[in-house]
Amino acid sequence: MPNEKTQKVTIPFLQAKKGKKEKIVAITAYDFPVAKIVDEIGIDLILVGDSLGMVVLGYENTIPVTMEEMIHHTKPVVRASKRALVVGDMPYFSFHLSNEESVFNASLFLKEAGASAVKIEGASKKRLKLIEAMVEAEIPVMGHVGLTPQSIHHLGQFIVRGREVKEAEKIIQDAQNLEKAGVFSVVLECIPMEVARIITEKLIIPTIGIGAGPYCDGQILVFHDLVGFSNGYLPKFVKKYADIHELITHAVKDYIDDVKKGTFPNNKYSYRLKSEKVRDLIRKQSEVPKIKRSSNRKIKV
Ligand code: KIV
Repeated sequence: MPNEKTQKVTIPFLQAKKGKKEKIVAITAYDFPVAKIVDEIGIDLILVGDSLGMVVLGYENTIPVTMEEMIHHTKPVVRASKRALVVGDMPYFSFHLSNEESVFNASLFLKEAGASAVKIEGASKKRLKLIEAMVEAEIPVMGHVGLTPQSIHHLGQFIVRGREVKEAEKIIQDAQNLEKAGVFSVVLECIPMEVARIITEKLIIPTIGIGAGPYCDGQILVFHDLVGFSNGYLPKFVKKYADIHELITHAVKDYIDDVKKGTFPNNKYSYRLKSEKVRDLIRKQSEVPKIKRSSNRKIKV
């Protein structure tokens, strides 16, 4: 019998959770091993976010991330996810030219990478038309309003959006427009929780918050932030549940020490020959004529 922990997550399943007031739990992942762990634990939705660029590929922001990189990282996540719904994030400039090209790029997340949906930032008039075209092409779309990291050059820095009433009203309207355009869910990033609450109450579709407070229908965090992969700056909204950076640092330091001291690998981590085979081998080796080394074959340092 399928149950909450084993049933494959679908879009209707996620939407029904809102009706039942059950929280949706989402996380980002960019590779097979992490996706496998979070899928097995029971995460509902895995976003292969374009945050990939910053937390895995070492870019300063998400702007340089390409379609090729996104598809490459979405494939292993899909292979690892037996239950979770996998959503691929459309990178900057993969949906900014013609609707035709943008719908084609979105289709690659489904056809090539095997994801179930795409996410797209923004809610301009043009973006809404594009989302309608994607939905028309049977591509489920997740919206994203509030702080949209692909607007970094407009914003200058990653900041909380909707602190002023006018901007809050605009974000609320954007979310409603996205629902009308056909998105199945919307990410609310870095907005005051009161604004997220209004949006969550107004929309039929689930809201997934990141830095948007407790009233959203679900939450998402960047995997690398919540496990403490980096020892750098983390935004206020991130709760660090582990310190992987420290764990890895200690592990690798211990490895370096062991190798330098000669305590690794010891017998426990080595393969052995039976003693009679060792004797036999040494005897046979002693019978092999020694190769004369030419004097000019010196190792250069
Ligand atoms: O790229 C990403 O990881 C995201 C989440 C922060 C929602 O868009």
